[in-house]
Amino acid sequence: MLSLPSLLSARLRAVAGIDPELRPATKPQFGHYQSNVALRLANAEGARPRDVAQRIVSEVELDDLCEPLEVAGPGFINLRIKASVLAAVVSDILTDADAGVNVVADPQTVVIDYSAPNVAKQMHVGHLRSTIIGDCFRRVLSAQGHKVIAANHIGDWGTQFGMLVEHILEQGVDVSALGLEGAAALYREANAHFKDDPEFAERARHRVVALQSGDPETRAIWQLLIDVSKAGFNEAYRRLGVLLTDDDLMGESRYNDMLPAVVTDLESSGIAVIDDGALCVFLTDDEAPLIVRKSDGGFGYSATDLAAVRYRVDILHADRIIYVVGAPQAHHFEQVFTVARRVGWLPERVSAEHVGFGSILGEDGKPFKTRDGSTVTLASLLDAAEEVAARPIAIAAVKYADLSNSLHKDYTFAVERMVATTGNTGPYLQYAHARVSQILRKAQAEGIDFDVVSVLTEPAEHTLALLLSRFGEAVDEVAETLQPHRLCGYLYEVATSLSVFYEQCPVLKSEGAVRASRLALCRATQQVLAKGLDLLGIEAPERM
Ligand code: ARG
Repeated sequence: MLSLPSLLSARLRAVAGIDPELRPATKPQFGHYQSNVALRLANAEGARPRDVAQRIVSEVELDDLCEPLEVAGPGFINLRIKASVLAAVVSDILTDADAGVNVVADPQTVVIDYSAPNVAKQMHVGHLRSTIIGDCFRRVLSAQGHKVIAANHIGDWGTQFGMLVEHILEQGVDVSALGLEGAAALYREANAHFKDDPEFAERARHRVVALQSGDPETRAIWQLLIDVSKAGFNEAYRRLGVLLTDDDLMGESRYNDMLPAVVTDLESSGIAVIDDGALCVFLTDDEAPLIVRKSDGGFGYSATDLAAVRYRVDILHADRIIYVVGAPQAHHFEQVFTVARRVGWLPERVSAEHVGFGSILGEDGKPFKTRDGSTVTLASLLDAAEEVAARPIAIAAVKYADLSNSLHKDYTFAVERMVATTGNTGPYLQYAHARVSQILRKAQAEGIDFDVVSVLTEPAEHTLALLLSRFGEAVDEVAETLQPHRLCGYLYEVATSLSVFYEQCPVLKSEGAVRASRLALCRATQQVLAKGLDLLGIEAPERM
């Protein structure tokens, strides 16, 4: 569908010869969009900016879309879209199932690595953030028509499983009767056992070898641990209402068979060298090397991630790989990407982005802890939110709080504020959606038709219509910058403009064509709010 800003940009560029860098106007008196193209051109040409602006304004063909263009201040060009054009654009939103999301011309294959909890461990708040943020990217990029492959890189491999399996066999534990919580408790027990009892530690090490060489009994117990953990993860995913399923599982163990080739290729290309018995890649003089194979012969987290890059590029044909993992792992990904680029597994045409994020803090400003002082599990966090609000609202509140702050910042888990139906919160947006739905229900009950926006006269109508026409752009921005808070900010603006519109423009109490047009504007707003919330992974209830 017609994207106004791109159309305006193209026409201006045809005359100016360079990107007009169109921006939403900062004040209503400057129109709807502004360009500083004349200032930039004048600078290069040594001409007077206002003269250049005048020339562009007289040559550009925008009569069909805009009111006569204005030159302002030192040479800005102000554009004001015709009301009839805005009305047409908003009417298009009404007939579009995606409310005006732009579908890309050349779809990419995008792998999103997110959630990634660890087998036999409780999910913690870091996994919560990754799950919510990654799910938002998945929804946004899918809506744009990209092929999205979700990769849930669960921690299902490593020497800890030798210890766990050995402990389970010795204690005669029935793993299938355990839940994730039970498995996590067992893990702590096994760990303590390992530390206290050198003989057990020795048997655990043998068990690692048995696991790696595929010993059936060992593998069977390992598989049971995965199964009970998976069930626990899925329960959390259901509770959160995210899209992840078993089909998205691509755990660390999947890459086992690729690890020897990773080693050989890194060694033969001279990129990795043996240092103190370990196979290492030294990237810079002053940082610790990336360890591909430990001195005991075991492969670590980095080796698996290198294999995963290869798999994603060669087998999945990724054009873009997005890793949604907490900020403390930034250095790890920097190293993995550098090595993968050097050895040629990650060609320039494939982008790899680590999207880090900050921690969740308690109201005391310190990392969030439960009442008894232990670290917070995902479940206890959701419990806390559900103590103060009904489930759909509580989940919306948690997700929105997570997405509406700029990702790299830590944020405070302030439950009361998060669930409030005022301010920049998830429930406020849900409420705006429910309220507009109620108006539409009333009108529908009267059997009125309203499928086009025909009259846009009031400033509040203009503001709202203009905002709605920008929905596609707001979604594009999230896809490009991977910053969900931009979409949150946009939707919050829609919701506040909607309430200004209610105040200034009676809807049900107006009459005739104005009434039908305002109802249509309401419906377009409802669709944008619903779709926008959906892209954030938040439900948009019709009633609240
Ligand atoms: N399981 C890891 C953790 O809990 C996160 C894995 C992230 N993804 C990756 N490809 N390394 O910290």
